[in-house]
Amino acid sequence: MENKWLNEAFKGEVPNGFQGKVGWQSPSNIALVKYWGKRGKQLPQNPSISFTLSECRSETFIGFEKADHFGFRFFFEGKENPAFGAKIEKFLLDNQAFFPFINQLHLTVESHNTFPHSSGIASSASSMSAFVMGLIEIEHILTNLSAFRQAQRPSPVEVPEPVEGPINLQKASYFSRLASGSAARSVYPKMALWGAADCYKGSSDEYAVSLENEIHPVFKTYRDSILIVSGETKSVSSRAGHGLMEGNPYAPARYAKANENIKDLLTALKAGDLDTFINITESEAMQLHALMMCSNPSFILMKPNTLRIIEEVRRFRNETNIPLCFTLDAGPNAHLLYPESEAEKVDDFIKNTLVAYCDEGRWMADHVGNGPKKLL
Ligand code: PMV
Repeated sequence: MENKWLNEAFKGEVPNGFQGKVGWQSPSNIALVKYWGKRGKQLPQNPSISFTLSECRSETFIGFEKADHFGFRFFFEGKENPAFGAKIEKFLLDNQAFFPFINQLHLTVESHNTFPHSSGIASSASSMSAFVMGLIEIEHILTNLSAFRQAQRPSPVEVPEPVEGPINLQKASYFSRLASGSAARSVYPKMALWGAADCYKGSSDEYAVSLENEIHPVFKTYRDSILIVSGETKSVSSRAGHGLMEGNPYAPARYAKANENIKDLLTALKAGDLDTFINITESEAMQLHALMMCSNPSFILMKPNTLRIIEEVRRFRNETNIPLCFTLDAGPNAHLLYPESEAEKVDDFIKNTLVAYCDEGRWMADHVGNGPKKLL
């Protein structure tokens, strides 16, 4: 795969006067089977499956201008923020063999999130995938421009042509993965599978694949209400968390179990089997947290209110038979997952009971979405 992208890279001269702006929005995603533990160059130790979200997303614009050498500025929420931009800049420099044209461009990136920065929601999946979509579009413009120039010679064309055809999502997923593992899954509508799974032909550790056509309609409109238990930054970065799996004595058993869960979840997703869906989803969240508790050093990522929410969700499910379940990221906030048809009852339950466990009563209503969208 690496060679394919190296061969396809635009290696020509960026024309004088080349300038413009591209803009993409891309959503966050929530994993059901978790990616926790990596190897090599951002490769997962086990496959993972996620819902693509809709309302929690990043909107990223990349201004580009011909220059003598690579230049980069990053603005977050309207203010220059070199610290936030450092990860993208490093990604670009690490991957310049795939995008050699960046050495002839000055890039100005402006990004913002639709969810508050202090919500404890990781923005790297949405922000990195939005950036990569824009980067690939710039490459696409350059490639088209150069083909157009050859056809039109001698009259020079210096204005970027609009992109024709869709961005190659496999390529977007591949490079989103290199920028931030779970970002690989954000580029597809509805649901994605990232990581080679024996039971799923075409799956790969290098990029995610779309599950849009593999799932029962009930999952295509699933709700995800995110309860903000704490808006504080996570006590362990996901990079450190992945690293802790290396010395974890339960890691081999975890990777085997994740593979088993992938197989069973794929079957349940196809059949619309909500009982199995709930069983696997909650067990995966618990495993992720259990792994952190028994890492060395050990971390407890839940807060007391996370546990209260879990207990309330299970009580509500038993009493009402409404198929509501939870999942957790590597932090204290709870994602409540339920079919759209139950939205009214679950939203009442959140407002009447669960909101008391949220930081300043904060929660966000999200749902399964359609993946990245071009803004400019
Ligand atoms: O993509 P990263 O390195 O931020 O890791 C994401 C890890 C989890 O969110 C906990 C699980 C997942 O699969 O998204």
